[in-house]
Amino acid sequence: MKLVIIYGTGSHNTERMARAIEEGAKTEGMETVLRNVNDVDRNELQDADAIAVGSPNYNHAMMPTVKKFLIDISDIDLSGNVGLAFGSYGWSFEATNTINEILSSYGVRMLEDLCIKRMPGDEELEICRNAGSKIAEEIKNKEVLCAA
Ligand SMILES: Cc1cc2nc3c(=O)[nH]c(=O)nc-3n(C[C@H](O)[C@H](O)[C@H](O)COP(=O)(O)O)c2cc1C
Repeated sequence: MKLVIIYGTGSHNTERMARAIEEGAKTEGMETVLRNVNDVDRNELQDADAIAVGSPNYNHAMMPTVKKFLIDISDIDLSGNVGLAFGSYGWSFEATNTINEILSSYGVRMLEDLCIKRMPGDEELEICRNAGSKIAEEIKNKEVLCAA
């Protein structure tokens, strides 16, 4: 069970979310890869069971580096993966909405978007950890269904 988490961030809020999502997934025994979008290696996606992509909202959009990454991976078969769009925001939700739309169009089975206002505090980080655990649970459920 492998989760790849890719994020863009300007002032580390979305990065904090990404790290907490990873913690939650690890507690469920998942193998994880956590990458800033600037350090991404697309080969790491080839054998993923789940993909979480995060971006903050800047000027009513996701970060251009995250958009470019999503377009660059369009030729990788991600269908059947579990997916999560996440990100920090101030007042609008364009980034996660668009990440969700793009990954859905690749056949990724998206969980509910995870949006945290500004800097996540302890409570919000716990919500992020739970989202990481939920990804693992979804994969386990899928494996049970496939085996049945
Ligand atoms: C120049 C600038 C533009 C922003 N534009 C938006 C926006 O359009 N919508 C929004 O919800 N938040 C906006 N924000 C707030 C950021 O999304 C928010 O600070 C977020 O926590 C940044 O996340 P990060 O630390 O991961 O970069 C903006 C912030 C700055 C500095």
